[in-house]
Amino acid sequence: MRATLPPTGRPQADILADLRAMRRDDVDWKGGRSPAYMFQASEAITALGREAFLEYFSENALGAGRAFASVKRMETEVVEMALSLFQAPEGAAGFMTTGGTESLIQAAQTCRDYTRAARGDPRLNGNIVAADSVHPGFDKAARLMDLEVRRVPVTADFRADPRAMEAALDERTIMLVGSAPCYPFGVIDPITELGELATRRGLWLHVDACVGGYLAPFARMLGRDIPAFDFSVPGVASLSADLHKYGFCPKPASTVFYRTPEMARHHWFDFKDWPSGRFVTSTLVGTRPAGGVAGAWAVFQHLGIEGYKRVATDLFAFIDAYKARIRAMPGLSIVGEPHLAIVAYTAADIDIYRVAEEMSKNGWLPGLLRRPRAIHRMMSMPHAASVDAYFADLQAAIAVVRSSTAGDSTLQAQYGGR
Ligand SMILES: Cc1ncc(COP(=O)(O)O)c(C=O)c1O
Repeated sequence: MRATLPPTGRPQADILADLRAMRRDDVDWKGGRSPAYMFQASEAITALGREAFLEYFSENALGAGRAFASVKRMETEVVEMALSLFQAPEGAAGFMTTGGTESLIQAAQTCRDYTRAARGDPRLNGNIVAADSVHPGFDKAARLMDLEVRRVPVTADFRADPRAMEAALDERTIMLVGSAPCYPFGVIDPITELGELATRRGLWLHVDACVGGYLAPFARMLGRDIPAFDFSVPGVASLSADLHKYGFCPKPASTVFYRTPEMARHHWFDFKDWPSGRFVTSTLVGTRPAGGVAGAWAVFQHLGIEGYKRVATDLFAFIDAYKARIRAMPGLSIVGEPHLAIVAYTAADIDIYRVAEEMSKNGWLPGLLRRPRAIHRMMSMPHAASVDAYFADLQAAIAVVRSSTAGDSTLQAQYGGR
């Protein structure tokens, strides 16, 4: 039955009660049972982001440059603070967007238009040579702009393979991509080597730090072994980093940066031939919530460098213990050597998807990896709070699967959904 508008309006209290009741069927993310989609450092930081978002609930960041000086100021400051964090040189520029996918699409478009101008070929579409582990946002960009994505297999340690990527280049290549880290394996690609390749071949290197950009710098400050991934690496032309992931800011908020003003110039959409005059935007979308800008600004101001280091300290205490507990379980092993807070593990003697199936009976939404078959989780503090329950259920699920004669699971790995 198709839903229809209620013929008469309903009281607010009923509607709000409905909203709360409908949640009953959702995954218990606060209880750590969602393997992705959600990020939380603490209830207090979420509450601050929410309050700041609601303060700017009605304003439209599309009008930041003309109508809302406050939004413009916050956006500029967020970008500038991030440029410092990513060791960007003088003259580098950046923009806020509404998410990682939008940042990737815009970086691809900016690279294409810059390369068209640089090569004097205004019709060049070209190809993007990327590690097989890069996010499908690049394939979405390619679909929109008629580009080709050449996915190159990763090495045995699940990282990008610069030599194999070089072999995939041709005269129509416009962009190289590495991740910091990639979503499937949580490992940071060898960005220094990719930077050397980009410099040697005169190509644009994009670093997709969407998922780890706002965690990796603090991990490094804490002395953890984090390979260079930002503008300190020669050859990195652009970088994307999501505020709404490990920046712990409210959705929707991401950032994208360019090494030089000449590159950043091509990011803008500037249409002059319209009855309403000139139409200028820095995002793919037009109207966008100013709340995302205010939320990010507020969380940055509240946490500062010390605050982010404190959050990272707590998160890594949990992640290190989590990895140790997985490794201590007979038959289980971690996929690669994940650098941050994405961890995938597999089993030698049983089908790990069947374990995920058993776990789902207790409300743990399966997060799966396809190559190799593994259980995958992108974790933050709700996962820490529920870790003992997780391992109790994991142990029980493994015992059920080991004692059963059923065949492989028919579960399918999936990230988004219809
Ligand atoms: C490495 C990487 N890049 C890009 C994205 C896309 O981000 P969004 O879902 O905000 O569009 C993700 C999402 O998980 C990601 O892991």
